[in-house]
Amino acid sequence: MFDFDAPANLLENKSILITGASDGIGKCCATTFAKHGANVVLLGRSLEKLESVYDEIEAINPGKVIIQPVNFSSMHETDYQGLVKSLAENFDCLDGLILNAGMLGLRVPIEFYPSDIWQETINVNVNSVFHLLKASLPLLKLSKDARVLFISSGVGRKGRAHWGAYAVSKFAIEGLMQTLADELEKTSAIRINSLNPGATKTTMRQAAYPAEDPDAQPTPKSLMPVYLYLLSKQAKSIHGQAIDAKEFDPDKYLPLSQ
Ligand SMILES: NC(=O)c1ccc[n+]([C@@H]2O[C@H](COP(=O)([O-])OP(=O)(O)OC[C@H]3O[C@@H](n4cnc5c(N)ncnc54)[C@H](OP(=O)(O)O)[C@@H]3O)[C@@H](O)[C@H]2O)c1
Repeated sequence: MFDFDAPANLLENKSILITGASDGIGKCCATTFAKHGANVVLLGRSLEKLESVYDEIEAINPGKVIIQPVNFSSMHETDYQGLVKSLAENFDCLDGLILNAGMLGLRVPIEFYPSDIWQETINVNVNSVFHLLKASLPLLKLSKDARVLFISSGVGRKGRAHWGAYAVSKFAIEGLMQTLADELEKTSAIRINSLNPGATKTTMRQAAYPAEDPDAQPTPKSLMPVYLYLLSKQAKSIHGQAIDAKEFDPDKYLPLSQ
Protein backbone atom coordinates (compact mmCIF):
# COMPACT_ATOMS: atom_id res chain seq x y z
CA MET A 1 0.00 0.00 0.00
CA PHE A 2 1.21 3.51 -0.90
CA ASP A 3 2.62 5.54 1.99
CA PHE A 4 2.77 9.33 2.26
CA ASP A 5 4.13 11.26 5.20
CA ALA A 6 1.62 14.12 4.97
CA PRO A 7 2.58 17.20 7.01
CA ALA A 8 0.09 18.11 9.76
CA ASN A 9 -0.68 21.41 7.96
CA LEU A 10 -1.13 19.84 4.48
CA LEU A 11 -4.72 21.07 4.22
CA GLU A 12 -4.45 24.27 6.30
CA ASN A 13 -6.93 26.89 5.01
CA LYS A 14 -8.45 24.42 2.54
CA SER A 15 -12.21 23.96 2.42
CA ILE A 16 -13.27 20.47 1.48
CA LEU A 17 -16.77 19.08 0.94
CA ILE A 18 -17.20 15.34 1.51
CA THR A 19 -20.36 13.39 0.68
CA GLY A 20 -21.16 10.20 2.58
CA ALA A 21 -19.12 11.55 5.48
CA SER A 22 -21.27 9.96 8.19
CA ASP A 23 -19.78 6.47 7.84
CA GLY A 24 -17.08 4.31 6.32
CA ILE A 25 -14.42 5.80 4.06
CA GLY A 26 -16.08 9.25 3.93
CA LYS A 27 -16.07 9.52 7.72
CA CYS A 28 -12.39 8.59 7.80
CA CYS A 29 -11.68 11.26 5.13
CA ALA A 30 -13.52 13.81 7.31
CA THR A 31 -11.51 13.17 10.49
CA THR A 32 -8.21 12.75 8.61
CA PHE A 33 -8.58 15.95 6.57
CA ALA A 34 -9.59 17.87 9.71
CA LYS A 35 -6.47 16.54 11.48
CA HIS A 36 -4.45 17.98 8.58
CA GLY A 37 -6.00 21.43 9.05
CA ALA A 38 -8.90 21.45 6.58
CA ASN A 39 -12.29 23.08 7.07
CA VAL A 40 -14.64 20.25 6.28
CA VAL A 41 -18.25 20.29 5.15
CA LEU A 42 -19.84 16.93 5.73
CA LEU A 43 -22.93 15.56 4.00
CA GLY A 44 -24.55 12.29 5.07
CA ARG A 45 -27.99 10.83 5.47
CA SER A 46 -28.09 10.18 9.22
CA LEU A 47 -28.01 13.29 11.43
CA GLU A 48 -27.11 11.15 14.44
CA LYS A 49 -24.03 9.70 12.72
CA LEU A 50 -23.03 13.13 11.38
CA GLU A 51 -23.27 14.59 14.89
CA SER A 52 -20.94 11.92 16.20
CA VAL A 53 -18.36 12.77 13.45
CA TYR A 54 -18.89 16.46 14.27
CA ASP A 55 -18.07 15.83 17.96
CA GLU A 56 -14.96 13.86 17.01
CA ILE A 57 -13.67 16.66 14.77
CA GLU A 58 -14.56 19.44 17.21
CA ALA A 59 -12.34 17.66 19.74
CA ILE A 60 -9.42 17.69 17.24
CA ASN A 61 -9.88 20.98 15.42
CA PRO A 62 -12.64 23.18 16.88
CA GLY A 63 -14.72 25.47 14.66
CA LYS A 64 -13.69 23.78 11.41
CA VAL A 65 -16.59 21.47 10.67
CA ILE A 66 -20.06 21.96 9.22
CA ILE A 67 -22.55 19.09 8.95
CA GLN A 68 -25.61 18.89 6.74
CA PRO A 69 -27.96 15.89 6.63
CA VAL A 70 -29.18 15.15 3.11
CA ASN A 71 -30.97 12.36 1.32
CA PHE A 72 -29.77 12.21 -2.27
CA SER A 73 -32.53 9.82 -3.28
CA SER A 74 -35.16 12.56 -3.09
CA MET A 75 -33.23 15.79 -3.81
CA HIS A 76 -33.82 18.04 -6.83
CA GLU A 77 -31.48 20.36 -8.69
CA THR A 78 -32.69 23.39 -6.72
CA ASP A 79 -31.87 21.62 -3.41
CA TYR A 80 -28.25 21.19 -4.55
CA GLN A 81 -28.11 24.82 -5.66
CA GLY A 82 -29.46 25.94 -2.26
CA LEU A 83 -26.94 23.78 -0.44
CA VAL A 84 -23.98 25.24 -2.33
CA LYS A 85 -25.38 28.77 -1.99
CA SER A 86 -25.31 28.45 1.78
CA LEU A 87 -21.76 27.10 1.52
CA ALA A 88 -20.72 30.19 -0.44
CA GLU A 89 -21.86 32.28 2.52
CA ASN A 90 -19.24 30.54 4.69
CA PHE A 91 -16.33 30.04 2.27
CA ASP A 92 -14.62 32.15 -0.41
CA CYS A 93 -13.99 29.05 -2.50
CA LEU A 94 -14.04 25.27 -2.44
CA ASP A 95 -10.63 23.54 -2.61
CA GLY A 96 -11.82 19.95 -2.59
CA LEU A 97 -14.90 17.92 -3.45
CA ILE A 98 -14.91 14.24 -2.48
CA LEU A 99 -17.88 12.59 -4.22
CA ASN A 100 -17.91 9.54 -1.98
CA ALA A 101 -21.53 8.79 -0.97
CA GLY A 102 -22.92 5.64 -2.47
CA MET A 103 -25.49 2.89 -2.11
CA LEU A 104 -25.09 -0.73 -3.11
CA GLY A 105 -28.56 -1.48 -4.46
CA LEU A 106 -29.29 -5.16 -5.04
CA ARG A 107 -27.13 -7.89 -6.46
CA VAL A 108 -29.52 -9.71 -8.81
CA PRO A 109 -29.49 -10.43 -12.55
CA ILE A 110 -30.44 -7.49 -14.80
CA GLU A 111 -33.47 -9.50 -15.94
CA PHE A 112 -34.92 -9.36 -12.43
CA TYR A 113 -33.56 -5.99 -11.25
CA PRO A 114 -36.44 -4.00 -9.64
CA SER A 115 -36.84 -0.67 -11.44
CA ASP A 116 -37.43 1.33 -8.24
CA ILE A 117 -34.10 0.19 -6.73
CA TRP A 118 -32.45 0.80 -10.10
CA GLN A 119 -33.69 4.38 -10.14
CA GLU A 120 -32.78 5.06 -6.52
CA THR A 121 -29.25 3.69 -7.01
CA ILE A 122 -28.70 5.79 -10.13
CA ASN A 123 -30.14 8.82 -8.32
CA VAL A 124 -27.87 8.45 -5.28
CA ASN A 125 -24.70 7.28 -7.08
CA VAL A 126 -24.87 9.34 -10.30
CA ASN A 127 -27.47 12.10 -10.36
CA SER A 128 -26.45 13.49 -6.96
CA VAL A 129 -22.86 13.64 -8.20
CA PHE A 130 -23.85 15.50 -11.35
CA HIS A 131 -26.06 18.03 -9.50
CA LEU A 132 -23.65 18.68 -6.63
CA LEU A 133 -20.71 18.98 -8.98
CA LYS A 134 -22.57 21.30 -11.36
CA ALA A 135 -23.65 23.55 -8.47
CA SER A 136 -20.13 23.52 -6.96
CA LEU A 137 -18.09 24.31 -10.07
CA PRO A 138 -18.26 28.12 -9.68
CA LEU A 139 -16.91 27.80 -6.11
CA LEU A 140 -14.26 25.27 -7.16
CA LYS A 141 -13.11 27.63 -9.93
CA LEU A 142 -12.43 30.30 -7.29
CA SER A 143 -9.77 28.08 -5.70
CA LYS A 144 -6.19 28.32 -6.99
CA ASP A 145 -5.74 24.56 -6.76
CA ALA A 146 -9.00 22.64 -6.44
CA ARG A 147 -9.33 18.86 -6.53
CA VAL A 148 -12.35 16.72 -7.35
CA LEU A 149 -12.31 13.02 -6.52
CA PHE A 150 -15.01 10.74 -7.88
CA ILE A 151 -15.18 7.59 -5.80
CA SER A 152 -15.54 4.63 -8.11
CA SER A 153 -15.25 0.85 -7.85
CA GLY A 154 -13.65 -2.09 -9.62
CA VAL A 155 -17.11 -2.96 -11.03
CA GLY A 156 -17.25 0.50 -12.63
CA ARG A 157 -14.26 -0.43 -14.78
CA LYS A 158 -15.14 -4.01 -15.64
CA GLY A 159 -18.74 -5.20 -15.43
CA ARG A 160 -19.58 -8.06 -13.09
CA ALA A 161 -22.65 -10.34 -13.07
CA HIS A 162 -25.38 -9.35 -10.60
CA TRP A 163 -23.91 -5.98 -9.62
CA GLY A 164 -26.61 -4.26 -11.70
CA ALA A 165 -27.29 -0.58 -11.01
CA TYR A 166 -24.25 -0.19 -8.74
CA ALA A 167 -21.83 -1.29 -11.48
CA VAL A 168 -23.62 0.82 -14.10
CA SER A 169 -23.59 3.85 -11.77
CA LYS A 170 -19.84 3.55 -11.29
CA PHE A 171 -19.28 3.29 -15.09
CA ALA A 172 -21.28 6.52 -15.35
CA ILE A 173 -19.04 8.12 -12.72
CA GLU A 174 -15.97 7.22 -14.77
CA GLY A 175 -17.58 8.76 -17.86
CA LEU A 176 -18.50 11.92 -15.98
CA MET A 177 -14.96 12.19 -14.61
CA GLN A 178 -13.37 11.78 -18.06
CA THR A 179 -15.75 14.23 -19.72
CA LEU A 180 -15.28 16.93 -17.09
CA ALA A 181 -11.52 16.37 -16.90
CA ASP A 182 -11.27 16.89 -20.65
CA GLU A 183 -13.45 20.01 -20.49
CA LEU A 184 -11.39 21.59 -17.72
CA GLU A 185 -7.86 20.40 -18.48
CA LYS A 186 -6.78 23.59 -20.24
CA THR A 187 -9.40 26.00 -18.99
CA SER A 188 -9.20 25.71 -15.21
CA ALA A 189 -6.91 24.84 -12.31
CA ILE A 190 -9.27 22.13 -11.08
CA ARG A 191 -7.72 18.66 -11.17
CA ILE A 192 -10.12 15.76 -11.44
CA ASN A 193 -9.67 12.01 -11.00
CA SER A 194 -11.61 8.91 -10.07
CA LEU A 195 -10.45 6.64 -7.29
CA ASN A 196 -11.35 3.02 -6.66
CA PRO A 197 -10.71 2.40 -2.94
CA GLY A 198 -10.80 -1.38 -3.44
CA ALA A 199 -12.10 -3.80 -0.81
CA THR A 200 -12.35 -1.87 2.47
CA LYS A 201 -13.79 -2.74 5.86
CA THR A 202 -17.07 -0.74 5.91
CA THR A 203 -20.83 -1.30 6.26
CA MET A 204 -21.17 -1.40 2.45
CA ARG A 205 -18.49 -4.06 2.08
CA GLN A 206 -20.11 -6.18 4.81
CA ALA A 207 -23.49 -5.89 3.05
CA ALA A 208 -21.93 -6.96 -0.26
CA TYR A 209 -19.95 -9.86 1.22
CA PRO A 210 -21.83 -11.05 4.34
CA ALA A 211 -19.90 -14.33 4.57
CA GLU A 212 -16.52 -12.60 4.60
CA ASP A 213 -14.45 -11.94 7.73
CA PRO A 214 -14.59 -8.11 7.92
CA ASP A 215 -11.26 -8.00 9.75
CA ALA A 216 -9.59 -9.57 6.70
CA GLN A 217 -10.15 -6.30 4.77
CA PRO A 218 -8.00 -3.16 4.93
CA THR A 219 -9.43 -0.32 7.01
CA PRO A 220 -10.48 3.09 5.62
CA LYS A 221 -7.52 4.56 7.56
CA SER A 222 -5.07 2.53 5.47
CA LEU A 223 -6.35 4.37 2.35
CA MET A 224 -5.77 7.86 3.70
CA PRO A 225 -2.20 8.33 2.40
CA VAL A 226 -3.59 8.04 -1.16
CA TYR A 227 -6.43 10.50 -0.51
CA LEU A 228 -4.07 13.00 1.16
CA TYR A 229 -1.54 12.70 -1.64
CA LEU A 230 -4.21 13.36 -4.27
CA LEU A 231 -5.11 16.57 -2.41
CA SER A 232 -1.49 17.65 -2.08
CA LYS A 233 0.55 19.98 -4.33
CA GLN A 234 2.62 16.98 -5.44
CA ALA A 235 -0.44 15.57 -7.22
CA LYS A 236 -1.01 18.71 -9.30
CA SER A 237 -0.16 16.91 -12.54
CA ILE A 238 -2.50 13.96 -11.96
CA HIS A 239 -5.64 14.69 -13.95
CA GLY A 240 -8.30 12.65 -15.75
CA GLN A 241 -7.00 9.38 -14.32
CA ALA A 242 -8.87 6.29 -13.13
CA ILE A 243 -6.79 5.41 -10.07
CA ASP A 244 -6.75 2.24 -7.95
CA ALA A 245 -5.90 3.07 -4.33
CA LYS A 246 -4.34 -0.33 -3.70
CA GLU A 247 -1.96 0.03 -6.66
CA PHE A 248 -1.34 3.76 -6.42
CA ASP A 249 2.07 4.88 -7.63
CA PRO A 250 2.40 8.62 -8.38
CA ASP A 251 5.38 7.97 -10.68
CA LYS A 252 2.95 6.36 -13.15
CA TYR A 253 1.41 9.75 -13.96
CA LEU A 254 3.36 12.06 -16.22
CA PRO A 255 3.15 15.83 -15.76
CA LEU A 256 0.50 17.62 -17.85
CA SER A 257 1.28 18.95 -21.34
CA GLN A 258 4.29 16.80 -22.14
N1 LIG B 1 -16.04 -0.38 1.02
C1 LIG B 1 -15.61 -0.92 -0.11
O1 LIG B 1 -15.09 -2.06 -0.12
C2 LIG B 1 -15.70 -0.12 -1.40
C3 LIG B 1 -15.10 -0.68 -2.55
C4 LIG B 1 -15.18 0.03 -3.75
C5 LIG B 1 -15.82 1.27 -3.79
N2 LIG B 1 -16.39 1.78 -2.64
C6 LIG B 1 -17.04 3.10 -2.74
O2 LIG B 1 -16.54 3.93 -1.71
C7 LIG B 1 -17.55 4.87 -1.32
C8 LIG B 1 -17.75 4.81 0.18
O3 LIG B 1 -18.20 3.52 0.51
P1 LIG B 1 -18.22 2.93 2.00
O4 LIG B 1 -17.81 1.52 1.88
O5 LIG B 1 -17.52 3.84 2.91
O6 LIG B 1 -19.79 2.96 2.26
P2 LIG B 1 -20.65 3.11 3.62
O7 LIG B 1 -19.84 2.79 4.82
O8 LIG B 1 -21.90 2.33 3.36
O9 LIG B 1 -20.98 4.68 3.63
C9 LIG B 1 -21.79 5.22 2.63
C10 LIG B 1 -22.01 6.69 2.89
O10 LIG B 1 -22.92 7.19 1.89
C11 LIG B 1 -24.03 7.81 2.54
N3 LIG B 1 -25.27 7.63 1.78
C12 LIG B 1 -25.83 6.47 1.36
N4 LIG B 1 -27.01 6.71 0.77
C13 LIG B 1 -27.21 8.06 0.83
C14 LIG B 1 -28.27 8.90 0.42
N5 LIG B 1 -29.39 8.43 -0.14
N6 LIG B 1 -28.14 10.23 0.64
C15 LIG B 1 -27.04 10.75 1.24
N7 LIG B 1 -26.01 9.98 1.66
C16 LIG B 1 -26.11 8.65 1.47
C17 LIG B 1 -24.15 7.10 3.88
O11 LIG B 1 -24.90 7.90 4.78
P3 LIG B 1 -25.56 7.27 6.13
O12 LIG B 1 -24.53 6.35 6.72
O13 LIG B 1 -25.80 8.48 6.97
O14 LIG B 1 -26.79 6.55 5.69
C18 LIG B 1 -22.67 6.94 4.25
O15 LIG B 1 -22.18 8.14 4.80
C19 LIG B 1 -18.81 4.51 -2.12
O16 LIG B 1 -18.92 5.35 -3.25
C20 LIG B 1 -18.55 3.07 -2.55
O17 LIG B 1 -19.23 2.76 -3.72
C21 LIG B 1 -16.35 1.12 -1.45
